[in-house]
Amino acid sequence: MTSAIDLWIEYILRFSHLVAGISWIGSSFYFIWLDSSFMPPENPRHNVEGEVYMVHGGFYYQVDKRKIYPGEIPKTLHWFKWEATLTWITGFFLFAFLYYLKGATLLINPQALDLTQMQAIGLSLGLIIGSWFVYDLIWNANLIKIKAISIFLSLCYFVAMIYGLTRIFSGRGAFILMGVIMGSLMLLNVWVRILPGQAKMLKEALAGQVPDYSVSLKSKVRSVHNTYFIFPVLFIMLSNHYPGTYGHPYNWILLIILSVSGAMVRHTMVTKNTKERWLLIPAAIGMMALVFVSSIQVKSNANSEMPPPSQVDFAYVRTIVEARCQRCHSTHNTDENFKVPPKDVVLETEEQLRKHKDLIIKQVENKAMPLANLTSMTDNEREALIKWMKTL
Ligand code: HEC
Repeated sequence: MTSAIDLWIEYILRFSHLVAGISWIGSSFYFIWLDSSFMPPENPRHNVEGEVYMVHGGFYYQVDKRKIYPGEIPKTLHWFKWEATLTWITGFFLFAFLYYLKGATLLINPQALDLTQMQAIGLSLGLIIGSWFVYDLIWNANLIKIKAISIFLSLCYFVAMIYGLTRIFSGRGAFILMGVIMGSLMLLNVWVRILPGQAKMLKEALAGQVPDYSVSLKSKVRSVHNTYFIFPVLFIMLSNHYPGTYGHPYNWILLIILSVSGAMVRHTMVTKNTKERWLLIPAAIGMMALVFVSSIQVKSNANSEMPPPSQVDFAYVRTIVEARCQRCHSTHNTDENFKVPPKDVVLETEEQLRKHKDLIIKQVENKAMPLANLTSMTDNEREALIKWMKTL
């Protein structure tokens, strides 16, 4: 019963997060495309800077890009803010549900830093909130006037964050937390920097003044930043299903390469300057570097006292599974946080191991399981289990 309730809460949160995220990213992509597609109006019209004609679903649409001045304010103005807000809210609840409850076991890596549940929650919340202040300071136009310096400082901050998080938390926890941090920066950009600027201009126009359009440019900077966050954030969200990424010993290098390559690809999509397409080359090299880094096998000799038997049989495998997995994956779980087997994965019989063969190999190879290696599985045991599983 509890496992069914857990499953449905997770499903509903994930589903709403996905739907809200699709609408946010969809409208963001659409507006970027729109912005880069405006042409000077065929028949010049008052205050109209550009126009676009589109066809969709059997009708033709014309959109004008314009500034508004006193006396020209439309009755109905559509704002795009709830997609972002709902994406964040559902995402944060999902994050808290999976990573803060149940002893924060998915977030903590006792081999890195043996945090308590409360410490892990406090530290991660502090990092999410603190990151906004650091980022906002770096991009405060009154403080740092040279864009290249802000870009450089931002890069340093993100690299340090990614490295630091993977040293403090579990690989999976570090990745998702970086995603939450970037997502939170995106939402705060919308609410703290973009919307108030737009509201101010509207208020000025309503009060009969010519709005100060320099505010538009400031809002635009943050809106452009949000587009650069999209690919890294999406990658992080999907990486959850690929333990080979977050579980790799060089997971932080993988995440840095992916984030930078993603941002480069995004740049070529956003920029109007076709000459900047050369950025796709370093992005492609980055992707090749990813394949290379992720193929590096790092062997630890910490527990090499037990050589894997050349003839691994089920009797031997059963002792490994009993010792390392059944605390959480059996009909008699002893783990206080996982009283019922997560994802309904019960690992007691040969038949059950066969049923989950591919998942087990993937999870154990990439050290995603045992969770946070709470049961201290050795490399030799991993090797033996995988070897046997492959013969199934
Ligand atoms: C401390 C508890 C714990 C231990 C020990 C543990 N697991 Fe898990 N396992 C979990 C949790 C929690 C999940 C669900 C993770 C998630 O939500 O993606 C899980 C999920 C899985 C899955 C399903 C993954 C998926 O994507 O559907 C497999 C397979 C698995 N574990 C195998 C193992 C094996 C094999 C061992 C022993 C070598 C093991 N686990 C040890 C807690 C544990």
